[in-house]
Amino acid sequence: MLSDKSRPVIEATLPLVGSRIGSITPNFYARLFAAHPELMDGLFSRSNQRSGNQQQALAGSIAAFATHLVNNPGTLPETVLSRIAHRHASLGITEPQYQVVYEHLFGAIAEDLAEVITPEIAEAWTEVYGLMADALIKLEKGLYAAQANDRMWTPWRVAAKTPAGTGSMTFTLEPADDTPVTAALPGQYISVKVPVADGLRQVRQYSLSGDAGTSRTFTTKLDDGGEVSPVLHNTVQVGDVVEISNPYGEITLKEGDGPVVLASAGIGCTPTASILRSLAESGSDRQVLVLHAESTLDSWALRSQMTDDVERLDGAELQLWLEKPVDGAKQGFMTLREVDLPADASLYLCGPLPFMKNIRNEAINAGIPATRIHYEVFGPDIWLAS
Ligand SMILES: Cc1cc2nc3c(=O)[nH]c(=O)nc-3n(C[C@H](O)[C@H](O)[C@H](O)COP(=O)(O)OP(=O)(O)OC[C@H]3O[C@@H](n4cnc5c(N)ncnc54)[C@H](O)[C@@H]3O)c2cc1C
Ligand code: HEM
Repeated sequence: MLSDKSRPVIEATLPLVGSRIGSITPNFYARLFAAHPELMDGLFSRSNQRSGNQQQALAGSIAAFATHLVNNPGTLPETVLSRIAHRHASLGITEPQYQVVYEHLFGAIAEDLAEVITPEIAEAWTEVYGLMADALIKLEKGLYAAQANDRMWTPWRVAAKTPAGTGSMTFTLEPADDTPVTAALPGQYISVKVPVADGLRQVRQYSLSGDAGTSRTFTTKLDDGGEVSPVLHNTVQVGDVVEISNPYGEITLKEGDGPVVLASAGIGCTPTASILRSLAESGSDRQVLVLHAESTLDSWALRSQMTDDVERLDGAELQLWLEKPVDGAKQGFMTLREVDLPADASLYLCGPLPFMKNIRNEAINAGIPATRIHYEVFGPDIWLAS
């Protein structure tokens, strides 16, 4: 809980810090990596640093957290924290690293606000950082404790590598040692760590795309300009060993018997396909509406898996949007205005940010409460900051 002493200070300085956070976060990362270059090897994404997406996500989360504390001093913004904690846990972040981040973040804040900062302001923002760090550390400890093992990374062998639509590839892994395997929930992701061209290791997250449980199957779309997906597509071969994390992610199928709407675009179909697979495997009698948007039929990575699973479920229906339509598909971009949405549905969304923003707005306009809309972002969550 934010103290009575700090609350007015944060309230008064939030506009200033908010307006400067865009220059504070790049300075913070520059300081962090100058002092700890090893953090770029197997932890931070070099591409997210270059594009500035991670700076934006961090800035957005700090501003959202401080704003929440000012408006609701007695509670914490659970959704924001939960997403970060799952992402951190998938990267093996540890408690002592929070002190390292504090040191460099506050070095950057002090430098940027040198002309205005007072001990009182520094103390109030230290309290905000402490509340955020404590909450994240607690959540992350809980996530680690729920795993079947205490390892951050374990070796898995590539058992199969199967082309999945134009430009995508499905990887099926099997354990390469005897570490106990955590049962994953449908919709969760793993982090995958591989050496890239210059020998540095890079980590990316991939949603499980098939069965969850103790299977580890994921599907990647090739990004020619990227670091990791070209290595997975072109270098990693069947029989090779890759390091992966335990499964994390809070966008999983919620218990209940109400209707489920799975809306995806492009490679965003991976978590929704896994949720659909779990419904098909359990013979669910829930009403399931699968909505998918794709450029062409051939580029739909999980087409046969998803159409088969829809067939297996009595209560399931598929609607498809294609930029170049074929019979039975709608033309152009997905819109919920063309869909008869069950009023009590839960919506699971995954795809590019503009797609998700649009579908979320349409769903809210159609009467689905925001609390029943769950979305996965395939990168740092800059939605928060936008
Ligand atoms: C929770 C989660 C689940 C995910 N699930 C999946 C999944 O199931 N399947 C899947 O395919 N992906 C998934 N992703 C995305 C995946 O993690 C990777 O982001 C994706 O594979 C691209 O990684 P890469 O290393 O190939 O590209 P990166 O190296 O990350 O590069 C990404 C893009 O950034 C560009 N870039 C680099 N530098 C700059 C710069 N200076 N300015 C602007 N742009 C720049 C690159 O050209 C490239 O196009 C998921 C992500 C998350 C967070
Ligand atoms: C209170 C402190 C912290 C906050 C507010 C914070 C916030 C964030 C946010 C918002 C993201 C993006 C999450 C997403 O949208 O997927 C993130 C990712 C990340 N965080 Fe933190 N973080 C904190 C502490 C730390 C610490 C101590 C470390 C360890 C050095 C760390 C390492 C990372 C890494 C490696 C990523 C992924 C970055 C990438 O792949 O580009 N964070 N964090």
